[in-house]
Amino acid sequence: MLTPAICTMGEDSHRTQYDVLATLGPGRHLMMGDDPRLPKMPDRPTLADFFRHRFVPMVANHLLQSAELARRAGLDETVVMACLLHDIAMAGLVTSDHGYWGAQLIEPYVGEEVGWAVRNHQVLRYFPDDSVGYRYPDAYVRYFGADYRPPDHIRHAYDQARGHRWYMTGRLITLNDVYGFDPGAAVAIDAFEDLIGRRFRQPKEGLGFDNSPVAHMWRTMIWPRNSL
Ligand SMILES: [Fe+2]
Ligand SMILES: [Fe+2]
Repeated sequence: MLTPAICTMGEDSHRTQYDVLATLGPGRHLMMGDDPRLPKMPDRPTLADFFRHRFVPMVANHLLQSAELARRAGLDETVVMACLLHDIAMAGLVTSDHGYWGAQLIEPYVGEEVGWAVRNHQVLRYFPDDSVGYRYPDAYVRYFGADYRPPDHIRHAYDQARGHRWYMTGRLITLNDVYGFDPGAAVAIDAFEDLIGRRFRQPKEGLGFDNSPVAHMWRTMIWPRNSL
């Protein structure tokens, strides 16, 4: 297998990982197609299939718990859907700039407001909003240290989001963004199938095969170890 460059930067293997090419020949090939260690995905995968078979279980659980919290609070379906998807990039693709990657993944399939909120929740999380009782997360002090300050581009994105008409939708993600990560409080994706049916335009060909501008991103999660 070749490890994606994004995962080897800063590691010794970044300089050597292509050495494997010299060892290939009859009976020894690079991985292409289904990774035998992963559950095989259905031919026409749905959002729920990614929750069940691909996402990091802890992050999938975090998404489900956040959406459940928003639903119990009686919030609009737009907010519940945004909560269900807000960390989807961390669940299946990359962590750095996860709000932006996540928004890109879902934009062809959700309302514009959901995409906006997912993109912007990432920067909104750094900034308190007393009007709704949102404080800088204690967890971030633990994660990044007490003296961490977001860089300028994050501050600029925050200033822009603050004045946007959908600001509160993004803000409500951060309010329902639970850091419980309680593995015992498991909520199944089944509990959201109705909501997904109403709010997520699932392509009939399956995610990854609808020829949308982001189909390749879903295919990468189906076959994350494809060499090319
Ligand atoms: Fe997030
Ligand atoms: Fe989150």
